[in-house]
Amino acid sequence: MEKKKIIVAIDGFSSTGKSTMAKTLARNIGYAYIDTGAMYRAVTLYCLENGLFDGDKVNEAELQQRLTDIRIKFKPSAEGKNETYLNGRNVESEIRSMEVSDKVSIIAAIGFVRRDMVRQQQAMGLKKGIVMDGRDIGTVVFPQAELKIFVTATAAVRAQRRFDELRSKGDTDVTYEEVLHNVTERDRLDSTREESPLRRADDALILDNSHMTISEQNQWLMDQYERIINR
Ligand code: DC
Repeated sequence: MEKKKIIVAIDGFSSTGKSTMAKTLARNIGYAYIDTGAMYRAVTLYCLENGLFDGDKVNEAELQQRLTDIRIKFKPSAEGKNETYLNGRNVESEIRSMEVSDKVSIIAAIGFVRRDMVRQQQAMGLKKGIVMDGRDIGTVVFPQAELKIFVTATAAVRAQRRFDELRSKGDTDVTYEEVLHNVTERDRLDSTREESPLRRADDALILDNSHMTISEQNQWLMDQYERIINR
């Protein structure tokens, strides 16, 4: 008998390692993995490249008109890593820059952008067998998801992880303080915005991974998946 397929929704604060655990689970169980933050980041990059920002203000009328011209796709790289494409161009590394990180919360707070992203995300989950991570997956995108996780860790731990990641990618300019500021500021903006603020779905399991190793959290997530599948 074919194993039943479910939707795994993983939400939580920025830099909690959500994507790492979501990716690992997806690979281990043969599911598709979608990083919805990458979609908001790709729209932000588009706005930066096309002069739609004036400081922290974005030209919303122009963005709304151009939204149908922004095509976001995920394609696996030679190593099997799902990479983000913006209008046919691989932007996987550009969307992780501090410049994009600094502006992405502004884009993610715009209602018409969210509605468009949510529509695309729901279409990706039609056949189930998907692990999706973001901020509103368990609350808005897939409120019916069979497994919902809400990941959290202290801001200091998350800033250190993000700082180490940027350094390992060769970014030597950024300081730990700047990263910590970006992490806490994004938490604030993401949790207080009017449109789909970051919040835990009532039926989501909380995972605080401040003091967990990557392999411990991967195992924990796998156990949760097995529990649902064998129910
Ligand atoms: O997960 P991330 O840091 O790459 O997400 C980038 C930004 O996009 C973050 O500030 C919150 C926002 N986001 C969102 O509002 N909804 C999602 N489903 C995913 C990300």
